[in-house]
Amino acid sequence: MDDKIKILNDKIALAKLGGGQARIDKQHQKKKLTARERVLYLLDEGSFEEIGALVTHRTKDFGMADQQFYGDGVVTGYGTVNGRLTYVFAQDFTVFGGSLSETHAEKICKIMDIAVNVGAPLIGLNDSGGARIQEGVRSLGGYADIFYKNVQSSGVIPQISAIMGPCAGGAVYSPAMTDFTVMVQDTSYMFVTGPSVVKTVTNEEVTSEELGGASVHSSKSGVAHITSTNDVECLEDIKKLLSYLPQSNKEKPVAIPFELKEELRDDLETIVPENPNKPYDMHKIITGIIDEDSFYEIHKDYAENIIVGFARLGGKSVGIVANQPMFLAGVLDVNSSKKAARFVRFCDCFNIPLLVLEDVPGFLPGTDQEWNGIIVNGAKLLYAFSEATVPRITVITRKAYGGAYDVMNSKHIGADMNFAWPNAEIAVMGAKGAAEIIFKREISNAEDKEAKLKEKEAEYAKLFANPYSAAERGFIDEVILPKDTRRKLIKAFSMLENKNVAKPDRKHGNIPL
Ligand code: HXC
Repeated sequence: MDDKIKILNDKIALAKLGGGQARIDKQHQKKKLTARERVLYLLDEGSFEEIGALVTHRTKDFGMADQQFYGDGVVTGYGTVNGRLTYVFAQDFTVFGGSLSETHAEKICKIMDIAVNVGAPLIGLNDSGGARIQEGVRSLGGYADIFYKNVQSSGVIPQISAIMGPCAGGAVYSPAMTDFTVMVQDTSYMFVTGPSVVKTVTNEEVTSEELGGASVHSSKSGVAHITSTNDVECLEDIKKLLSYLPQSNKEKPVAIPFELKEELRDDLETIVPENPNKPYDMHKIITGIIDEDSFYEIHKDYAENIIVGFARLGGKSVGIVANQPMFLAGVLDVNSSKKAARFVRFCDCFNIPLLVLEDVPGFLPGTDQEWNGIIVNGAKLLYAFSEATVPRITVITRKAYGGAYDVMNSKHIGADMNFAWPNAEIAVMGAKGAAEIIFKREISNAEDKEAKLKEKEAEYAKLFANPYSAAERGFIDEVILPKDTRRKLIKAFSMLENKNVAKPDRKHGNIPL
């Protein structure tokens, strides 16, 4: 064999070991796939093409000159997921803890540039101790290059981050700027500084799991959008998520062939209880409306008083935002407003129509909410809906009270079609609260105060606890039967398919961050 070809083959064989030359941390490798296995599992069989397999770092300090590993701790390249072009990088914890060197960063930046120029999603499989400490500012510069490209790519191509090991420093800030973060239970952690630094600085003793495990980030901080039980499930979750998304902001999501039939769903008639104070599970309404088994929930365990997720309706992707009466009666609060606002903006970036299912008694009152900025955070959702130009439809299934009526994709802030079920109550507040305020004097002067309150409550309810005064003004386009909702929505979204809205001439708006 020609010498040059032999050298090349040897080098490629070594590179494909994917860091096998380095010491493998037994504790973390137990349940984890290698970086290369992850890439191969994510992509369609035989589709992976590697870029930069022979790259090595350029550091000479701290004895690094003798520790060279092909690929420098990251596998980068492209392939297809269900036949669609996708770019991917996978960090290899077995090479210097997957830490990011100047060259490691260059490899990631190279595929980020191609992905954004071509217009296809970028998937980052993160497993990294952050900036490579031996490289000092060169590795910090490498991270900043990635952060900058994350921002330039934002809203142009979908960016999805998986956290598949202990990730610190820059390894968590880059995912935070991508669209979705998927974490693997028990084997992945995210923190800016790990438990040992926390102990030194604050004297707080905390485990990695308590500080930044998947359960913390999926329920407390909201940093993780999806939690998967292991590596394989994580990669499956990414594939599923991609199936709802377009390749870039220039395209629409792929639609599944669909033929409109009768589309009546009798089950929807009995989900909302007659007693307006009784909760019910909004998931049942979602399931009743969408194509079978098509709901993919995002941020499932965070701010459960609002539900967000992707689904298919008549074969086409939609983003669903729905109040959940099962938690806190479905009120809007700080976290649910942030959660929904981020989701609305994602859908708007990537041409995914929005369906809002509304049953909201208002904003959550109290010092906790006010001190945590319900004003500015609630405004995020109001802003996000108001600026969204994708087709937007709302169905009021029960309550639409107060400011929350305005915020939840009302006609006034640019929704295209607003439907209400016959039992909907659209008012400034519930009948009892309203009667207590506006008939205060009459009630307190009455002999039988209780009876007077009841009478006034009924009076107010008759006038406002229905969808008809809103429909008379055109704030509601149609009062529809629950069982007919799916058909109405499929037709309305189809009618809105070619919606095109001219945007104001400005650099960008100033969302209340
Ligand atoms: C170089 C690193 C490294 C790093 C880990 N290693 N992190 N090498 N640079 N950043 C190496 C270790 O020396 C070790 O090498 C191997 O990877 C495995 O690390 P362990 O500590 O044994 O693993 P574990 O106990 O699982 O702990 C994982 C960890 C911890 C939590 C990630 O390693 C850690 O805290 N690393 C430092 C995190 C950090 O502070 N990074 C810099 C952040 S600054 P051997 O040879 O022993 O196997 C940053 C700037 C970005 O990222 C800017 C943000 C805005």
